[in-house]
Order: sequence, then C-alpha cells, then structure tokens
Amino acid sequence: MTTLDTTPAGRFWDGIGIRQVQLVCGLILFAYVTSHFINHAFGNISVQAMDDVLALQIAFWRSWPITIVLYGALLVHMALGFWSLYRRREFRWKISEPLQLLLGLSIPLLLIFHVTGVRIAASVFGHEKLYPQTLYAYWVYWPRLAALHYAALIVCWAHGCIGVYFWLRLKPFFQTASPYLLAFAVLVPALATIGLYHGAHDVMEASTSAEWLAQYRTVAKTGTRADQDVLDRIVFSFIWGYLALIALTLVARVIRVLSERRGSTIKFVYGGGKTLRVPKGLSVLEASLRNDIPHSSVCGGRARCSTCRIRVVSDCSRLPAPSKREAFVLERVGSSSDPAIRLACQLCPETDISFVPLFPATLKTSLLNTGQQTRVGQERYLVNMFVDMRGSTKLAETRLPFDTVFIVNRFVGAVSQGVISCGGMPNQFVGDGILALFGLATDPRVACRQAIKAAAMIAINVDELNQFLAHDLREPIRFGIGIHCGEVIVGDVGYRDHISFTALGDPVNVGARLQDMTKALSCEVVLSEELFKTAGLPESALPQEQVSIRGRNETMLVRKAVSARALLDLIDDVTVIAA
Ligand code: FES
Repeated sequence: MTTLDTTPAGRFWDGIGIRQVQLVCGLILFAYVTSHFINHAFGNISVQAMDDVLALQIAFWRSWPITIVLYGALLVHMALGFWSLYRRREFRWKISEPLQLLLGLSIPLLLIFHVTGVRIAASVFGHEKLYPQTLYAYWVYWPRLAALHYAALIVCWAHGCIGVYFWLRLKPFFQTASPYLLAFAVLVPALATIGLYHGAHDVMEASTSAEWLAQYRTVAKTGTRADQDVLDRIVFSFIWGYLALIALTLVARVIRVLSERRGSTIKFVYGGGKTLRVPKGLSVLEASLRNDIPHSSVCGGRARCSTCRIRVVSDCSRLPAPSKREAFVLERVGSSSDPAIRLACQLCPETDISFVPLFPATLKTSLLNTGQQTRVGQERYLVNMFVDMRGSTKLAETRLPFDTVFIVNRFVGAVSQGVISCGGMPNQFVGDGILALFGLATDPRVACRQAIKAAAMIAINVDELNQFLAHDLREPIRFGIGIHCGEVIVGDVGYRDHISFTALGDPVNVGARLQDMTKALSCEVVLSEELFKTAGLPESALPQEQVSIRGRNETMLVRKAVSARALLDLIDDVTVIAA
C-alpha cells in the first residue's frame, strides 16, 4: 500500500509524476517561445522596435538564474520526450498525441541552425547578432533559411499549443476560456510571422546601401568565415548526434518490444469474460487499446482523469503498489482505501489479473457524439446534496404499490422543485434518494449558499406536501439532507442508451455519508465545514460537530441543522441561476 503524506507540502509532491514535470518544463519553454514571438511581432512597427524589445528579452532570458531554469527545462523536456518515444507502447489514443511527439522531436533539428547562429555564436565568439543581422542572414544571405525558420516557428507553436490543450482541457474554466485561448493561439504566431516578414523586407531594402552593410555587417557583429565554419560543424555534429540518439532510442524500443514478445506473458481477464494474453510490463489500458477493447481514458493515460479506473477482482496482494501519482489520483477520488481500485493506465501487473472497468467505454463515444467537453469528463468544484426520504421502506410495506410510488414521486417532486428554485440541478434519483448538484453555472460561494437555501426550500415544500397528504399519511414525511462540496469529475456515465450526466469523486461519497449521518445526529441537515466556510456563514450560525466518516481515517468537522427550514434565515441573497 502506498502511503501519502497528508501535509499540504507532502500532497503537492505526491501529486507530481513524470507528466507533471514534463508539463512544467514545457510551460517554461512555451513562455520563452511566446515572448520571442511577441518580439517578432514588433517587426510590424520597425526593425528598431524589434531590437529594442530584444534588449529587454536578452536582459531577462540571458540572466543567470533564468538561463539555468530555461536550459534545465529544455534538457528535461527533451529527455522526457525520448523517454516517451522509448516507453510508449500504444499510440492509438488520438492523432494529436503521436503528432505532438513527432513535432517535439523535430524541433531541435529545425532550430539548431538558429540557436547555433545566434546564441552559441554569442557565447563562444561574442557575436552580436540582433534582428538586422539575423534577418539579413535568413532572407538575403541564405534565403532558404527563411523557410526553415518559419517552419521552426510553426512547429514550435503547434507543439506548445497541443501540450497546453492537453493540460487545460479538463479544467473547469476551459470551455469559457477556449475562445480567448484560440484567439491567442492564432493571433500570436500570425502577428509574429507577419512581423518577421515586414522586418525582413525593411532589412532587405536597407541592405542595398553600403552604409547599412558597414554598420550592421561588421566582423564584431557577425564573425569571420572561420567562426562560421566552427558553427557549421557544431550544427552538423548536433544533427548527426541527435539523429543517432533517435535511432538508438528506436532500436532500444524494438529490442524492448522483441524481448517482451519472447518473454513470459500473463493473463488479463475482463469482467465480461474476455481474456487476453499480454507481455509482462504492459499497462492494463495499453493492453485494452492494443487489442481494440474499448476502455475509457479521457486524459489519454496521463493519470489525471481517473476514468480508466478498474476494480481488481483477483488477488490484489500480488499487484505492484501504486506509484505516488496513482495513489494521489485515487485518493482524490476517494478510492485510496480500497486496494482493489486501480488506474488502468498506471497498473502494469506482473501476474495474471481479473478486473472490471468501472467506467463505460462509451464515455469516449459520447465525446465524439456530443462534442461537449463537460459531458466527457471535467474536473470542477461542485456542491453535492443528497436528500433521502425517511421511512420509505415502511411505507412500502404498509401501502399498495401504487400509493407508495405516488407518495415517493410527490416527495421527489417537492425536493426537485426546491433544488431548481435555488439554481441547482436534480441529478440522480435512486429510489427515494436524490442527488442534486450546484455550481455548474456559479462560483463556489454562490453554489454553497444556493444549496443551503435549497435545503430550506425542500423543507417548506415537504411541509406543504405533508399538509396536502395529511389525511392519507399516518405520520408526516421526514427526510435527511447531507451537503458537501469539492473538486469532482463531471461527465456522462452509463452504458449504451443509459448514459446520464453526473458527478464522481470523493466529495460526492462524503455528501452521501453526511446524509446518512442525519439519523445519528438527530437533525435534518448535515453540512460539511468546508461548505459552511465557503458559503461565508457566521461562525455561530450552526453548531459544529466532529464526526467519523465511514471509509475515512480522519475525522471531519460538520455543522448540523436540526431544522432545514431554519436555514432560510441564514441565506437571503442567493442569486438563482438555472443550472
Ligand atoms: S486514463 Fe486518465 S487517469 Fe488513466
């Protein structure tokens, strides 16, 4: 069992895997590329403006600490790219993933002439190649380099944008932000390439004069023929060395694949009875994809979405322990205490294993059908409310089935009305229990306040229902409500035609447990402390209790409201927005 550090710092480090390191390094490089592109865009003003901004860029990016961070990020990002090339067994997720790897591997080849001519030349020979010298070299002296330079720009930008897209697409704000991100992704390179073109034309015109050449093409700035020979040798050595490294990695990959094929195999038994023989070392998700077995994997195997989760039904003690990252993700969705729940994209069994995927593979199909990101799987902060009707079992025993269904339906209607009137969404109905979600269209504070007000509205509606059915009921309908909030995954879950939008994750489980607790605490509503605090209620508004939650090691602070109706006095400013 992998134990996680529960301190904030420990949780932070536990959440970091190879993908996260690669992402941070990529973001540093993307920041550099963006600032460089913005610099190019100043060519739309003048070459002098480009040089003025370049002076600021050099002061920042060539300072020692930033140089170390930048080149460190570059080396780590490249090394992890090679690791990906070596290790990745399946490239079937989407065309964008192998494309991104291919673009990333081609960047050093496309950029080496530029990096050597400008950066290495400055460090080794003290050349001072600013925009006039560089644009002259690419557009006048070696015109073919202009095309190569443009290709490098486009490839770098596309690679960075794909990486940022994979990073942000599961974030709650992505849908709102996507038009702006798209505008940024299009405008920055467009302005940069047009700026370069304008700058290059100014340089081409100016360079017809002898004075310009005498001023800008001096030996001190551009170096000698001998310097250039050395730089050319560096470029060619790098290209050959880099190609050799790629070839070596591919050879290592082939050797690994062959040895896997010759090596021992293990058996994967899927829930439906399907059995595969796969080489040791393959992850469960890779085995599914390799054998065309649909398996949901919204994040593409990056240990982020948890939609590839499986329940192992064979002996769990023989499985390798989860990595820190896997344990972190499982803990986030409330599955860390159950050793049978694992991430298929991270689990590489060494022995035979039987398991059941927990999410329908149609999750992926629904993405293609609906094209709605939220419905495929998205992390977001939501409030979940569980409402349960008390005594419905007894009701069913003492009444005709028709009566029972009628009363339960009226109860569900009363609850749903209360939820909707406060801006929430009745989401799941399980018998006489209801899960409602708040915060799909509001910020967390408003969502928490909406949920609290909804609890009061439910009480009012149920009171009215009790009056309406007074002659029919031996005792009034009672209920329990549990409300909690936190980061959950929302998306479509189900099978074939029975797919519905819902929320998954630890906060949802906790909400259900809080509802159970209303009986033990003799109250109508139990709110988590987090919800209470996020709603911004005064400390004295509700009594605090420390409770143990089933399936959790630590105790939890909650607030209890004996009467749900009384909560109305606490909330009077809720903005009702239809979810
Ligand atoms: S595929 Fe997303 S966590 Fe495994």
